[in-house]
Amino acid sequence: MILIKSQTEIEKISTACRIVADVLERLKVFVKAGISTAEVETYAAKQIREKDAIPAFKGYRGYPSLVCISINDQIVHGIPSRKTMIKSGDIVSIDLGVMLDGFYGDGALTIPVGNISPGALRLVKVAEKALYIGIGKATVGNRVSDISATIQDFVESNGFSVVRAFVGHGIGCSLHEEPQIPNFGRPGQGPRLKEGMTLAIEPMVNAGGPDVKILDDGWTAITLDGSLSAHFEHTIVITKNGPKILTQTLTDLV
Ligand code: CO
Repeated sequence: MILIKSQTEIEKISTACRIVADVLERLKVFVKAGISTAEVETYAAKQIREKDAIPAFKGYRGYPSLVCISINDQIVHGIPSRKTMIKSGDIVSIDLGVMLDGFYGDGALTIPVGNISPGALRLVKVAEKALYIGIGKATVGNRVSDISATIQDFVESNGFSVVRAFVGHGIGCSLHEEPQIPNFGRPGQGPRLKEGMTLAIEPMVNAGGPDVKILDDGWTAITLDGSLSAHFEHTIVITKNGPKILTQTLTDLV
C-alpha cells in the first residue's frame, strides 16, 4: 500500500529532509583530497547530532555506518573507513538518511574532488540531470514507471547505463515504503501517482554496463566492469502543482 501523507506528516518529512540537505551541503565543502571517508562520517555524525536528528542508516539491516560513501567504481553503500583516503580526481557519492520525530528524509549526491576527468564530470552531470528529469515526471496522474522510463532514456541516450539492482522508494514513516521506483522500464506501468505521496528518487548511473557486484564486506556495491558510477537522490512530495523537492536547503529555495 502506498501511504498518502497528511499536511502535518509532510511538514515533518520536510523537516527531516531539510536536515539531510543541510548536512549534504556542508559535506560538499568538507570533502577534499587527503581525508579518509571515516573522517567524513565523523563530521556528518556531528552535524546530525547538532540538529537533534537520528541517522537512519546505522543499524538498518545491520548497515554499520550512518552514511554511505561510495568512491569511483563503487555505486552505493560504501562503508566509511580510516583506510579509504579521498584523492584528487575521485568522484565521491554520499548518501544520507535521517529520522526526526518519527519521519524520514533521504538524499544523495556525487561530489567531484579536485581535478576530475572530463568523462567523470560528464557522468556526474548526466546522473544529476537524470534525477531532475525523473522528478519532473512525478506528477499527479502519471505512473511510477513514467519516472523510471524517462531516467533510463536520458541516461542511455547519453551513452551510460542505469543500475537495476537498486531502486528508489516511497519514504516517510519508514525509510523504505512502497512503491519501488526503478530507474529503468517501460512508461505507463505501475501505480498511479497521487497528491501527498512522498518518494525518494535515486538514479545510479554507470559509465559502462549496468551490472553490479557486492564486495566481501556484504554491502559495498561496485560496477562489475570497473567503470565509474554516480548517484543522486532527492526526497520529493507530489502536490497538485507538481513535484516539490524536500531535500533542499533554505538557500536552494531562493
Ligand atoms: Co534512498
